[in-house]
Amino acid sequence: MANTAPHPQHAAAGPRHSKLLRTIAIVLLALIIIVALAVLIIWLVIKPKRLVYTIEDGSIHGFNLTNDHLDANFYFAIRAYNPNKKVKIYNDKVEVSVYYNDQKVAFNSVSPFFQPHQNVTRLGVSLLARNASLNHEDSKDLRLEKSSGEIEFEVKVKSRIRYRVGKWKSSRRTMKVTCKGVMLHTSSSKGFDRSYCDVDL
Ligand SMILES: *[C@@H]1O[C@H](CO)[C@@H](O)[C@H](O)[C@H]1NC(C)=O
Ligand SMILES: *[C@@H]1O[C@H](CO)[C@@H](O)[C@H](O)[C@H]1NC(C)=O
Ligand SMILES: *[C@@H]1O[C@H](CO)[C@@H](O)[C@H](O)[C@H]1NC(C)=O
Repeated sequence: MANTAPHPQHAAAGPRHSKLLRTIAIVLLALIIIVALAVLIIWLVIKPKRLVYTIEDGSIHGFNLTNDHLDANFYFAIRAYNPNKKVKIYNDKVEVSVYYNDQKVAFNSVSPFFQPHQNVTRLGVSLLARNASLNHEDSKDLRLEKSSGEIEFEVKVKSRIRYRVGKWKSSRRTMKVTCKGVMLHTSSSKGFDRSYCDVDL
């Protein structure tokens, strides 16, 4: 009966139906590929690169270590480079600290600054250690290093930054810059060796 023979109307609609479905599937697939390509191209064009921080100059003056407490005046010339071609950076809050053996001895904040693409900004930062307490062991080590004429410090920069691409601005995020092995000479005749920093976003 009707069960064994295919329904004539269904038989005619079937191929047309599947043709339409196939067309829709192809169009959808094409759209997905186009969107994926657009995202890839935008990402390749913007291609956010890590910021580059180096310390170009540094000095220490007025060193006085008495009863495990340190007084000193530090100066650092910090070079901040934004290598990005499309991404601009707002540095909304910038704090610089000096550490000796993981103990913070001095701190200062830097005025907010804006970095256009491929911009180099030089920050001259003065920091005062005033009666900064050190544990007894570190104090002894610091005194020994001082007598050798060369002291190793660590400089950290902590920033709250926003990206800007065209008119779009990102939310704020924290950037941590760590400059290890910053050697400061206590006799002014010696020069400063540039120090490269790790940038963590
Ligand atoms: C070093 O600091 C101590 C205590 O703060 C002070 O008594 C002394 O006068 C200082 N020495 C120099 C050379 O400034
Ligand atoms: C970097 O940008 C600042 C302003 O944000 C500008 O004063 C400075 O000249 C720029 N430096 C370079 C190398 O373009
Ligand atoms: C430095 O701090 C210690 C306590 O941490 C205090 O006893 C001492 O008087 C302070 N010295 C100066 C010069 O402020």
